[in-house]
Amino acid sequence: MPSSKDHQIWKYPTKIHFGVGVSASLEAACRDIGSVNPLIVTDQAMASRPLYHQFIKHMRTTDVNYREFNAIKPNPTGENVQIGVESFQAGQHDGILAFGGGSALDAAKAIAFQSAQQDPFFSFIARENRQKALTETVPPLLAIPTTAGTGAEASYASVILEEETKRKRILAHPVIMPRLALCDPSLTLDVSPEMTAATAFDAIAHSLEAYCVADFHPMADGIALQALLLLKEALLLAYQDGQNLQARSDLMAASIMGAAAFQKGLGATHALSHAISARIDSHHGLTNAVLLPYVLRFNKAQIADKMTHLAQVLALDCQDGDGFAAVQSWLLGLRRAVKIPETLAALGVDMRQADAIAQDALKDPMAEDNPTPLTEAKLWALLEAAYDGRLG
Ligand SMILES: [Fe+2]
Repeated sequence: MPSSKDHQIWKYPTKIHFGVGVSASLEAACRDIGSVNPLIVTDQAMASRPLYHQFIKHMRTTDVNYREFNAIKPNPTGENVQIGVESFQAGQHDGILAFGGGSALDAAKAIAFQSAQQDPFFSFIARENRQKALTETVPPLLAIPTTAGTGAEASYASVILEEETKRKRILAHPVIMPRLALCDPSLTLDVSPEMTAATAFDAIAHSLEAYCVADFHPMADGIALQALLLLKEALLLAYQDGQNLQARSDLMAASIMGAAAFQKGLGATHALSHAISARIDSHHGLTNAVLLPYVLRFNKAQIADKMTHLAQVLALDCQDGDGFAAVQSWLLGLRRAVKIPETLAALGVDMRQADAIAQDALKDPMAEDNPTPLTEAKLWALLEAAYDGRLG
C-alpha cells in the first residue's frame, strides 16, 4: 500500500527500438517521428569518429534532408543550446536527430525545447515556470545513443551548464522525452574501457539512488533492481572485452532501465556530481562513481533494509547477514576492477571549492530526494570524507 504519498505520477519511457542493427532503419525512424528535414545534433568528439562518418554516409543514402550541428561540449552549455536553436531555425528543420552520448542527447533535447520558446532557456528551470513553456511547436526528437549509461534516450530531463553561475541546471519537462529511440548495442562496441566503465557507473548510480529514494514506487524499484543485476554481470565483461555484444546489449538495456527508474528520484550522488563537474569539467558518470560509496555510507541508517534486499537480489556474499557491507564491498571491488579513482582528490577536486560545491549541491533538485535530509554542513562533511577516502 502507498505509504508516503496518496497521489503518485508514474511515467514510463518512450517508444524504443532495441537490438543489433536497429540504427539502420534511419529513414523509417525519421518518418515515424514525422520529420523530413531533421537537424542532426552530435558532440565535438563524436563528429570526428568513424562511427559518425558511417552514420552520415548512411543518411546520405536516404531521402531525408538534414544538416549537422556538431559543436556540443562534453558538459553542454547554454551557449551550445542557443547556437543550436539558431542552427535549427536557420535550416527550417522539422525535427532533431540526436546521435551520440549523453551530452549530445541532452543538448538536443534542450535545443528542441528552446526552439519553441520566447523566454530564455534557463527561465524554465524553476518548477513554477515550466507550465509557461510553449509545447505545441516543440519539434519531435529521435535519439540514437552511442554509449550506455546516461539513459538520456529514455528520460525527460536535460542537464545544461549555465556558464554565468557555473551551475548545471536541469530542465525536466515531458515534452523533451525523445519521440523514438533507436538503441543499437553494436554502436557501443568501440567505446573505450574507461568510457564504458564511467558511463555504466552512471546507470549504477541512477538505479541505486532511485531504489534508495523513500517514495512508494514498486515499478521503479523493480526496474532498478533488474538493471543492477544486469550491470553486475555485464560491466566487467564489456570492460574486459569491448566486442562482447551480449554484455554491450545488457549495458544498453540497463541504461534505459536506470533512466526509467530515476523518474522516482535520485539523491546526493547526483546533486554533488552536478556541482563538481560544473566546476572541474569532470565526466558525469566518473564523478558519480567516485561519490557513490561515500553517499551510500552517509545514508546507511536509512537504506540498510533496502541494501539487505539488494544483496539478496544480486546474490552477494553476505557475511553475518550484513547486506549493506556486502553491497558496499561489491561496489568498491567493481570500481577498483575498472580502475576508477577512489577519492575526490584523485578526481582533481580542490577542497577550497568545497563551500561553493556544497551550496550548489543543496540547491540541486536531486538533493531533495536523498534518503537522509541534507544540509550544507552535511554535504561539506560528505565532500571531505570523499576527498580523504574515509568510508568508516
Ligand atoms: Fe546521471
